[in-house]
Amino acid sequence: MADVTGDLGRCLEGVQGLGHAVILLGPPGAGKGTQAQRIAQRYSLPHLSTGDMFRDNIDRDTDLGRKAKPLMERGQLVPDEIVVGMVADRINQPDCAKGFVFDGFPRTLQQADDLEHIAKRNQLGCTIVLHMVVNPELLMRRLTGRRICTAAGHIYNIYQRPPRRDSVCDLDGSPLIHRADDSEDVIGGRLAAYDKQTQPLVKYYTLRGLLSPIDAMAGVDAVTENISRILDGVMAPR
Ligand code: AP5
Repeated sequence: MADVTGDLGRCLEGVQGLGHAVILLGPPGAGKGTQAQRIAQRYSLPHLSTGDMFRDNIDRDTDLGRKAKPLMERGQLVPDEIVVGMVADRINQPDCAKGFVFDGFPRTLQQADDLEHIAKRNQLGCTIVLHMVVNPELLMRRLTGRRICTAAGHIYNIYQRPPRRDSVCDLDGSPLIHRADDSEDVIGGRLAAYDKQTQPLVKYYTLRGLLSPIDAMAGVDAVTENISRILDGVMAPR
C-alpha cells in the first residue's frame, strides 16, 4: 500500500474519534444514491455524495466546479487531489463527527489509500463497504430513465419508479431533471471509467475483509432491507 500523506490526511489531522464510514461502491446506476439517502435517514448520518458536491460547485461556478465540469461532461473522473481536498473539507464539518455515508467515494486506489490512512489516524469506528452488484445490462436503462428532484435530490425512474405526475417530485412538488451525464454517449465513458479505475477497489476491500456484497438487482426496498441487516449489526437506527 502506498504511504499516503495526501490532502485528506493533512486536512484531518487532529480530528479524533470519528464514527463509522459507510461506503457505497458500485457502477453508475447501481443504486448508490437511492440507498445512501435511506441509510442516512435510518442512522441519522450525513450523506456525502461527491457527484452532488461537484454539481453544486458547477451550479455556483466555483473554481472547483470549472475544473470538474468538462471531465464530468465526458464521463471521466475528476483528479484525486481535487476530490480528496473537497472530501476533507466536508468531513471536517461537525455533522460528520458521528460517521457518514459515502456515495461515489472512494473511486480510485489512491482515494481508498487516503481514506484508510485517515481511518487509522483519526480512530474512525470502522469502515463498512457495501458493494452494489448489478448486471451491467440493467445500468443503461436505469440511468437514461433516471429523473432527479431539484429541491432535495429525490430519485425516480420513468420506467421503474415513475413519479405520479410527469416531471414533478411526489414528495415536494419540485421539477424533476434529467442529469446531463445520463445520455447514452456519456454513460459509456462513465462505465468504462468504473471498470478501469474503480472496480479494483472490490479486491482492495475484499483483501481487507471490509466488503459486503449486496444484490442491487433486487427491488429498492429489498436492497434496503439487506443493507439494514448488515448495518444494524454495527450501528443503532435512530
Ligand atoms: P456520481 O454523481 O457519483 O454518479 P455515479 O457514480 O455515476 O452514480 P450515479 O449517481 O449515476 O448512480 P447511483 O449508483 O447513485 O444510482 P441511483 O441511486 O441514482 O458521479 C458523477 C461524476 O462526478 C463522475 O462521472 C465523475 O466525473 C465525478 N466524480 C464523482 N465522484 C468522484 C470521485 N470520487 N472521484 C473522481 N470523480 C468523481 O439510481 C439510478 C437509477 O436506478 C434511478 O432512476 C433509480 O430510481 C433506479 N434504481 C436504483 N435502485 C434500483 C433498484 N434496486 N431497482 C430498480 N431501479 C433502481
